[in-house]
Amino acid sequence: LNIGVLISGGGTNLQAIIDASESGEINGAVKVVISNKINAYGLERAKNHNIRSIYETDEDKIIEILKENKIDVVVLAGYLKIISPKFVNEFRNKMINIHPSLIPSFCGAGFYGQRVHQAVIDYGVKVTGATVHFVDEGADTGPIIMQDVVEVDKNDDAKSLAKKVLEVEHRILTKSISLLCENKLSIQDRRVFINE
Ligand code: GRF
Repeated sequence: LNIGVLISGGGTNLQAIIDASESGEINGAVKVVISNKINAYGLERAKNHNIRSIYETDEDKIIEILKENKIDVVVLAGYLKIISPKFVNEFRNKMINIHPSLIPSFCGAGFYGQRVHQAVIDYGVKVTGATVHFVDEGADTGPIIMQDVVEVDKNDDAKSLAKKVLEVEHRILTKSISLLCENKLSIQDRRVFINE
């Protein structure tokens, strides 16, 4: 399958997807990387692997680029922008997002990127983690595909927590994409089942 990845920043999740695709873990190829930030290092990562990398902020143009490249699966990998209902509809159940917390905790419009981890520390929860979910009209509200946990130690700070969660993100995101590319995910109401 053809994968399109949307990013806004460093792109370590993108790198994990590229590596998993090249190693065969993911039965699909990253055909295009689109960023809404012109200096996103993730664009460099794409170029290093001869993948089309485009800076674009207009959503209609983004949809056009994805269609031109016959994209089957869209992955939001650190893409810090809300997806419009029109875009969601174009790729319903074919668009997934990675969020660095255990949804429905610490998610929604206010919890972007690294702010999540400081909120986790401040609240005093004992575990956090990451979530991969299908994208629907809400912010971080679509059907959950996969989650995994990370313990919050007493001497953790936002930085050390972000590092631990990022490793979980890379693992569950590549696994989720691999399952999606092999058509092993089914959705009933809002529950996702893995047919392994
Ligand atoms: C990750 O925690 C991601 O979930 C968040 O931004 C962080 C960096 O992601 N949105 P990446 O390295 O750009 O993939």
